[in-house]
Amino acid sequence: MEQVAESVEAAGKTAIAKGAVSGKKLNYAKISSITPSDAKARLLTGFSDFNRVLGGGILMGSVCLLAGQPGMGKSTILMQICAEVAKKHNVLYVSGEESAGQVKLRALRLGAESDKLSFAASCSANDIAKTIETGEFDLVIVDSIQTLAMDEISSAPGTVSQVTNCGNLIIRAAKATDTAVVIVGHVTKDGTLAGPKVLEHLVDVVLNFEGDRYGGFKTVRAVKNRFGSTNEVAIFEMVDTGLREVANPSAALLAERTNTDGSVILATLEGNRPILVEIQALATKSNYGYPKRTASGFDLNRLNLLIAVLERRTKLRLSDKDIFVNVVGGMRLSDSAADLAVCMAIASAVAGRKLDEKYVVFGEVGLGGEIRSAFRADQRIAEAKKLGFAHAIAPATIKDKFVVPAKDLRETLIRYVK
Ligand SMILES: Nc1ncnc2c1ncn2[C@@H]1O[C@H](COP(=O)(O)OP(=O)(O)O)[C@@H](O)[C@H]1O
Ligand SMILES: [Mg+2]
Repeated sequence: MEQVAESVEAAGKTAIAKGAVSGKKLNYAKISSITPSDAKARLLTGFSDFNRVLGGGILMGSVCLLAGQPGMGKSTILMQICAEVAKKHNVLYVSGEESAGQVKLRALRLGAESDKLSFAASCSANDIAKTIETGEFDLVIVDSIQTLAMDEISSAPGTVSQVTNCGNLIIRAAKATDTAVVIVGHVTKDGTLAGPKVLEHLVDVVLNFEGDRYGGFKTVRAVKNRFGSTNEVAIFEMVDTGLREVANPSAALLAERTNTDGSVILATLEGNRPILVEIQALATKSNYGYPKRTASGFDLNRLNLLIAVLERRTKLRLSDKDIFVNVVGGMRLSDSAADLAVCMAIASAVAGRKLDEKYVVFGEVGLGGEIRSAFRADQRIAEAKKLGFAHAIAPATIKDKFVVPAKDLRETLIRYVK
């Protein structure tokens, strides 16, 4: 053992002692003398919010990973983007999942036909990289990374080694010819990129396509962007002519509201955008030994925590009740200021009493039952005013006439859930 260790160390020393033998001097330049890449050379997708998510469009030479669950609409939106970009640029759509005939059907439905839009069915990363290297295309779509394989690697498509190496090959080809590439990656139900997690580090932009697969809103947000902010979000709905941007999501989300008990309107944020969503709670008597708690669009651990706070700090009895919480419209909340709205919805459902429909609610709830401040309160308030609400039940730290201050969970429930 020791001998091995010594010889390894010795080998290391000789390699270092000899210095760099095989390398050559870097070809460096003064930063002042370098001409910047053209940040304006971006391909516009035809969706203004999607462009903003990307930082102004698809940058030439950039590689973007579009990740989402199967059936979310990745192929659909990319075909729509292809059609738009192909008005001026040469575009190639490569699919390893669908045949030419199938893709053509979709293209017909979406009205995506152009002389500059080409299609190829292929599962070979080598062939795709070679085609990108010709520089004939300004934008290449690869649908999807999980179907690709490299000749040199024997493992099955979708494995980590295939995904990493295929990804690298395509990225190198894209950078060499300044071709924009969008790679599709399927994710598993829990939201992790199946296999292509490794790809996240290699690509320039990672877009997550999330939402309800069966109707409802879908959101696209950047979780990584080397050329833009990660705070923007685009909201879509699926119609038979493809995906459509939702211009006023708050109004659409509230359109079907029937103000029953257990319904509370939350002023939340999706990226930089303020949105009003309805939180619904339902409480029924538990039939089995332990109460069931279900959350859709909201973190279940957070729900359990809030239920514990409600039980301990407000004397509501919840241990014998099944509690269901739903965020209407397929939205997924990651906003800590949703706490107060969820608590009020549960209290309203349990008490069987409605909240006045003129109120919106936001604020974080602490373990002591205290209401804590929320970021970007002014934006939330502005959105609520725009949609005709009269007041916001919100943290007392906010100085605004629109806000009826809430300091403590118990007090707030006694005052407003009656
Ligand atoms: N004729 C149609 N009308 C409306 N929606 C459709 C139609 N055909 C497919 N879709 C929608 O498109 C979705 C599939 O989109 P697709 O782009 O293939 O998803 P992905 O590539 O992410 O797996 C389906 O879930 C369905 O909702
Ligand atoms: Mg697809």
